[in-house]
Amino acid sequence: MCLTIPGKVLKIKQNTALLKMQNGVRRIDITTVSGVKVGDWLLATVDLAVKKINQNEAHEILKLLGGRKNLILADQINPKIKEILKVASQRALTKKEILTLLKTQGKEKEALFSEADIIRKTYLKDFICIHGIIEFSNYCQNNCLYCGLRRENKRLRHYRMTIDEIIKTAKYTCNKIGYKMLILQSGVDFGYSDSNLVKIVSEIKKCCRCFLFMSVGERSLEGYRKMKKAGADGILLRFETSNKELYKKIHNINPTPKTQNFKSILSDRISLIKNLKKMGYYLVSGFLIGLPRQATEDVANDILMCQKLGLQMVTFGPFIPCQNTPFASKKAGNMDLVYKTIAVSRLLMKNARIPITTAMETQDLKARHLGLQRGANALMFNLTPKKYAKSYEIYSNKIYSRDRRLEKLALFSGKKSWKMLEQELNQKFK
Ligand code: 5AD
Repeated sequence: MCLTIPGKVLKIKQNTALLKMQNGVRRIDITTVSGVKVGDWLLATVDLAVKKINQNEAHEILKLLGGRKNLILADQINPKIKEILKVASQRALTKKEILTLLKTQGKEKEALFSEADIIRKTYLKDFICIHGIIEFSNYCQNNCLYCGLRRENKRLRHYRMTIDEIIKTAKYTCNKIGYKMLILQSGVDFGYSDSNLVKIVSEIKKCCRCFLFMSVGERSLEGYRKMKKAGADGILLRFETSNKELYKKIHNINPTPKTQNFKSILSDRISLIKNLKKMGYYLVSGFLIGLPRQATEDVANDILMCQKLGLQMVTFGPFIPCQNTPFASKKAGNMDLVYKTIAVSRLLMKNARIPITTAMETQDLKARHLGLQRGANALMFNLTPKKYAKSYEIYSNKIYSRDRRLEKLALFSGKKSWKMLEQELNQKFK
């Protein structure tokens, strides 16, 4: 897509014109179009005029391109990468192509980012989706090696919000602040029975006009069915990694009689996710980037898995080591790979929501700013009551920013929100 872009004629010399384009000045052949004058707008390929257009049309197209550089056209881009980026708008990419994109650097990487941004803008316009997350309990019966909430982390300061507290927080979030998308998250905590969760869901849906996601880990299908009936709209459940050996290694070590249901088998998790989709839930899933012994090829498979599952929202983030876990001294996931994963995911799943997750923000203060320009279109705001938020320590140094100004802009500026957010973020990171 976007093989031709508009430019304004600055100079003409015989059959060539000097065109002012978004990303500089370009000399092009104008024998293909008759009657070209200085000041005209032309639609041009890399080196050839295609047709004359009027100023309004030119501005329309430039707007569609997001006012940003279309770097695919730059001469210096490796032709192989250019070709992959070009075909991405017409067909699904192969694993090999995805891997090639995940390994790009320099100009090729910038071209990937720019194409993802254009696709985001073309398909989803300037809307940003805003999600509020309430982490209501940090108890977890599982013992995943990477996670700070793991059962054997005895240093964690535990909390479990009461049903009333959860409902009150949700009410405040939706009815006072104005959130329309709410995620309730906890560890796998059977301290809440199915009927407790049903009560929470139905009470919230009764008094808040919001889209409600539950993120409570692996529970029975029956439990999930009841929550759906009570009004839950979506489920957030990551598959964490599509590499089945890695999945087995990092999950549910030392199961107890209580946790034996959770066999730490990837296919169980995937089939649960598929069943939830069949139940009619809006499905959010995804993976971790940079787990110990995870290869870039695994990330390519993870992206393909998201596509295969037909997710409406794709959520991923860098692995971040957490104190008091077996992975405490491991290296964190690389943010460069995270950004490329955002961009590639956008090329493959053009209509999906891709949020900037808290883990991304924790690793890079500019994650919102950069991620939104590289294919992402959603933000997460933490709404856990302050007294608990610090204890929801999935990983160390988790960021807890309550950027009220950004939150307000995002929630209330409607169609203009993208531009305003961008300005706000630009100012912040000048
Ligand atoms: N680093 C980054 N993300 C983590 N999660 C759990 N532990 C970590 C960690 N150490 C993520 C998992 C889980 C989500 C709630 O938090 O992907 O699904």
